[in-house]
Parts: sequence; C-alpha cells; structure tokens
Amino acid sequence: MQRTPIKAALNATGPMDAILLQGWVRTRRDAKAFSFIELNDGSCLKGLQVIVDAALPDYVHIAKSNTGASVEVRGKLVESKGGGQKWEVVAEKFTVLGEADATYPLQKKGHTMEFLREIAHLRPRSNLFGAVFRVRSRLAYAVHQFFQEKNFYYVHTPIVTASDAEGAGDMFRVTTLDLTNPPKTEDGAVDNAQDFFGKKTFLTVSGQLEAEIFACALSNVYTFGPTFRAENSHTSRHASEFWMIEPEVAFCDLQGDMDLAEEFVKYLIRDIRENCVADLEFFGKFVDKDLLSRLDFVLEKPFVRCSYTEAVEILNQSGRAWEHPVAWGDNLQSEHERYLTEEHFKCPVTVYNYPRAIKAFYMRQTDGCAPGRETVAAMDLLVPGIGEIIGGSQREERLDKLKEGMALHHLDEKNYWWYLDLRRYGTVPHAGFGLGFERMLMFVTGVANIRDVIPFARTPGTAEF
Ligand code: 4AD
Ligand code: MG
Repeated sequence: MQRTPIKAALNATGPMDAILLQGWVRTRRDAKAFSFIELNDGSCLKGLQVIVDAALPDYVHIAKSNTGASVEVRGKLVESKGGGQKWEVVAEKFTVLGEADATYPLQKKGHTMEFLREIAHLRPRSNLFGAVFRVRSRLAYAVHQFFQEKNFYYVHTPIVTASDAEGAGDMFRVTTLDLTNPPKTEDGAVDNAQDFFGKKTFLTVSGQLEAEIFACALSNVYTFGPTFRAENSHTSRHASEFWMIEPEVAFCDLQGDMDLAEEFVKYLIRDIRENCVADLEFFGKFVDKDLLSRLDFVLEKPFVRCSYTEAVEILNQSGRAWEHPVAWGDNLQSEHERYLTEEHFKCPVTVYNYPRAIKAFYMRQTDGCAPGRETVAAMDLLVPGIGEIIGGSQREERLDKLKEGMALHHLDEKNYWWYLDLRRYGTVPHAGFGLGFERMLMFVTGVANIRDVIPFARTPGTAEF
C-alpha cells in the first residue's frame, strides 16, 4: 500500500477503510484505554491525530514512540469526534521505525530562534521552519512560473568566475594552490598562472554579466542561482551565500525594468497568498500580526517611484536626526531606505537615477546631467520591514560610455573584453535587475532574520552543516 501524505488525508472527501501513514511523532498523550499521537510528515503544517487502542497487539510498542520518533500507522481514516479536526486515524497496525532519544531537542516548549539555528539539522521539523521551507519551495516554483509564462529563457550562469560583476571586490577566492607553499613568479608574487584555471578565480557575486550575453541573443532571459559575497556584514539581511533571480531584457529601458520588477514582486506575493494559505496564516498568528494585511495592501497599490534626488530632499526635510546624515552623492543607508518606504510613503518605493559614482560601472549614464550631478539609470526597490529587495539598472550599451564607466571604477578593460564585445557587435538597449530570494522570502513570511529563511546560513564566522 502507498503512503498517504498527511496533507491528502486531512483533505479527504470521505472516510477510508485502509490508509498508510508514515511520519514523526509531534506529541503523544496516553489515556487509560488509548494513546493519542499527533503525527506530522511535513506535507503541511497540521498533523493528523492517530488513536492507538491499548487492546491492540502493537500497543506494546507505544512506549517507544516519543516525540521525534518516526512511526508507521496502518488503519482507518474516520470522522473525528473531537473538535478542531475533521479526520483522525484509528490504528490497526502500529510500528516504530526509529526511536527518538529523550535528548531530542525539539520538545513542545517554545525555543528561541538562536537556539533553533544551532540545530539547523532538526529545525525543519518544527512548525515554523516547516512552514518557511514549504513557502520557500513554492516561491522558487512561482519564480520560474512567472518567467516561463512570459517566455523568458532560464540561463545557468557560472558559479566559478574570473570577473567581478559588481566591481565591488567582495569575492571569495577559488583556488587549489597550496596555501602554505604557493608557486611564485620570479619577482616573488604568487603565480596564479599555475592555479587550477590558469588564472585567479572566484565564486560569483552575480550572474548578470553572463546573463547580458544571453539577453543579447535570446532577448528575454533570467538566472536563478546561488551567489556569494565576502562582505563582513553582520546584519539580519545579509548572508554570504544567498540566492538571486536576475532577469535581463533586451530592447528594454529603465522604465520597462521598473515595470517588470513591480509586476514580478506582485505576482510572487499573489501566488504565495493563494497557494500557501495555512502557512501564511501561521506566520500572521505567530510571527508578524500585520503580515497578511501588509501583503494585501502591497498587492492593491501601485508602487511609488521617486528619483534619488527627490529622495535626498525628502530625507533632509524629514526633521530626523540621522545616524548617517545624507547629502547628494551619498549612498542611502538602511535607516534612510526604511524611512522612505515605512514612514514617508508607507508603501514599496522604487528609487531611480542614482549618482554615477556610487553605482556599478555597467549602469547607463543619464544624458544631460548638470555637472557634478551625473547619474546612472539605476533603480532599487525598497519594501517596508526590509529595505532594498531589488537592485537593477538599464545597462550602458554605448561602447565609449561603458569604457568611461570602467575607467571611473578603475577596472581593467582586458578582463572584460567579452563584455565590451557585446557593445561592438549589435549592441542594444537592455536592462535587468536582481531580486534577493531570501529577502523576498522574509517579506512574504514576516520572518525577521535572513538566517531563518535559508536552510543552512553562511554568514561571517558560520558554516556549520
Ligand atoms: O543590488 P545587488 O548587489 O545587484 C546585483 O547584484 C545586480 N548584478 C543585479 C542585476 O542587476 N542583475 O543585489 C541584488 C539583490 C539586492 O537587492 C538584495 O535583495 C540581494 O540581491 N542581496 C543580498 N541578499 C542577501 N545577502 C546579501 N549579502 C545580499 N546582497 C544583495
Ligand atoms: Mg544593491
């Protein structure tokens, strides 16, 4: 007989004479003539109540079915007489597959998120993390569905790379050189030519540059993969390894890019609202009371668009004492981004046209800027509770301007020869953005720390599991 997932059993339309369940014991309560087991198999938030009659021959095993044990139940699905559930299972055969030591750390009492991070190998069995990872799976599916429905092609960009896509230099080295005794060149420097790939290589910080290659061939593409950043950030929104979705669109300008970002974010929220109802209700109850109303509000309203220059004026007229005062040309800090989206506009905001000097080399220079006020066609989407969730831009498609940008950022043209070639052979206006997958997941679940929406967090000093 095939195992019935608990989700299917709970949604049954009628009683069943024979059912096989397999799962883990959440709780067990022993009464005189029966034991009640709440069984969970992760297929959904709720468990199914199993009743094991003390008269059953298999009842001798019941003492081995502590919280955390894995068990198999064969029996009947019957209408429940107790309140709170429609169906329960009356056991006819009861087998303990794997006992759980009394030291099983996930007992009924509430645990702190910090403690649960230390047992990341067991936390998926808790209600909260079961819900997080079911939503994560659905969100990934919705990402592909959105782009596939729009006829975007999925491109697998490399994880090992020799180029710094963001030009920011926060990259992890990939090497097989003997670090205690590396080969040296004549002048005593490490001889990278003898490394595995014959040059210095890194883990990628973004698939964008390679995605641009494909956009300039297949027109509409997207990537969805892991990215790595060696910044020493200890915030609740930064991870050293995270997943990013990067669409890249040929024949598209900044306006089209912002439109796509807004449509995408709303599509994802709507999908999760419709397909993860029970898990979202759980988050609304136990994680963030305002979650559902906030998500619905975001779906209804058009996002605000505000230029960087306007944003700086708003911040300076706010009367706030900023920890980092902001003048035109400065980067917006988290406190500024949160103020704009949470307090001033009270809605998601796309800030666009940032100063050229603080943005990446590949962004398109805005024509006709006043001297000293040069901007690029960049955009950041800021959402309440998180701040930046998307960063993107129209790309510089003009060879001479791109070379200017590279010089400004002290990048060596030699390392980007193929990227420059795209501007030599049939260049087109194009644009794209990156959505931080974990930040989106924080937004739809209300979970406040990025470490709690990724299965195994990699942050400075931490790479357990
Ligand atoms: O703004 P970023 O750095 O943009 C890029 O990498 C561009 N190449 C994207 C593009 O245009 N194709 O990163 C994009 C998004 C951010 O808005 C944020 O949501 C997320 O990636 N992100 C991080 N998420 C978690 N931990 C980190 N350390 C992150 N750094 C960026
Ligand atoms: Mg950014």
